[in-house]
Amino acid sequence: MTATSLHQAASVNRRPMVGEKVRADARWEDLERLRSTHPMMDAIIDEVKGRRIRVGDRWLSDFASCNYLGFDLHPEIIASVPAALDKWGTHPSWSRLLGNPRPYVEIEERLTELLGAPDTLVLPTITLIHTSVIPALAGQGAVLVDTQAHKTIYEGASIARGAGANLHRVRTNDPGHLEEVLRSLPGNVSRIFCVDGVNSMTGNAPDLPLYARICRENGALLYVDDAHGFGVIGESPSDDLPYGHRGNSVIRFYGESYDNIVLVGGFSKAYSSLAAFLALPTSLKNYLKVAASPYLYSGPSPTASLATVLAGFDVNEAEGDEIRRSLCRKTRSVLDHIAKLGLRTLNTSGYPVIELPLGHADDIDAVGRFLFERGIYVTMAPYPLVPRSQVGFRVQVTAANEDAELEQLNEVLSELSVRFEMQRASQAA
Ligand SMILES: Cc1ncc(COP(=O)(O)O)c(C=O)c1O
Repeated sequence: MTATSLHQAASVNRRPMVGEKVRADARWEDLERLRSTHPMMDAIIDEVKGRRIRVGDRWLSDFASCNYLGFDLHPEIIASVPAALDKWGTHPSWSRLLGNPRPYVEIEERLTELLGAPDTLVLPTITLIHTSVIPALAGQGAVLVDTQAHKTIYEGASIARGAGANLHRVRTNDPGHLEEVLRSLPGNVSRIFCVDGVNSMTGNAPDLPLYARICRENGALLYVDDAHGFGVIGESPSDDLPYGHRGNSVIRFYGESYDNIVLVGGFSKAYSSLAAFLALPTSLKNYLKVAASPYLYSGPSPTASLATVLAGFDVNEAEGDEIRRSLCRKTRSVLDHIAKLGLRTLNTSGYPVIELPLGHADDIDAVGRFLFERGIYVTMAPYPLVPRSQVGFRVQVTAANEDAELEQLNEVLSELSVRFEMQRASQAA
């Protein structure tokens, strides 16, 4: 046998290495190429000043963070950390079942009041919540998932399926399809429908009252992930403040009750901290204390996160609606400019998540480089993170973006619309 044929035989019989399947899957090639070559992917941020960030020797205006309220930079919130560290050390390293530092209790009490929910349970991240709570709620029943739900919901649903649940996809924004799937299930099967509140890609919220009614009529639990709505939208929307007041999330925005609804939210976006929560009945909270592994086994949020959540509640109470007014105005200035340019955005809500789809998906690399060179940092949305027809980029506006940065963004979008083919508003579905 020659050296070459030996090598060929070895590679035929060789066991694939861990991770190789992902690399060999052609769907992920574009993303991997962008990750390894593009300045706006997997980037190292060297410095932050307000919403200006430095990547290498280049300063850019940041429209990729989800710090919608600017709490990451708020002096009162930053100042809350040292005293908490003095009291609790850097990290209270018990799992919650073993011991709950007092700030956890305070956070849950204040959060329950803010949301107007029956009770709340705080765990480290939404990802951990979905992957542990969806299987615990689903059991051997049916898990219905909106086709545009966040990837981490799908991961929770996949784990549930592995443990014996049946997974059903429900077409997004199609309440009729939800009703159809629910009615097709045998009467004795438990069912849960999972959907995003303010969607992380479109920036829009579903018709929650309608979904809530369909779920109630068909004995299903409605499970809503409002990672992007908590802190941004809330009760009693008005002309003066279309986002609503208090930032107490999508259920209150619609004036809905929590009957048959579990709300999931997080502090890692609008509140700039690392913790997440469920709003739920106390009986369910007690069940999850022994059924959801993060409560039993995970390390808790660090002291700085607990302190900044509590200080965030104070700032939200004192200035939150003023900040949301500013966020709404800033977002509007970008949306109005996009409308003036005749570009299509998936955003019809006016919330600060603005996705702009490209005319040609293959332009993603060049468009990203153009934005980066013009000093604008955004979230790229390549395939397969979004369908090919929606490949583009996402702008997230925060209250901490200065007006000059928004003007810069709008100027660059004008230039971009001349240089590249973007989808037009007239093409909107
Ligand atoms: C809708 C949605 N759910 C969940 C997550 C994950 O949240 P966490 O960082 O708390 O795990 C994100 C973050 O991007 C998100 O956008």
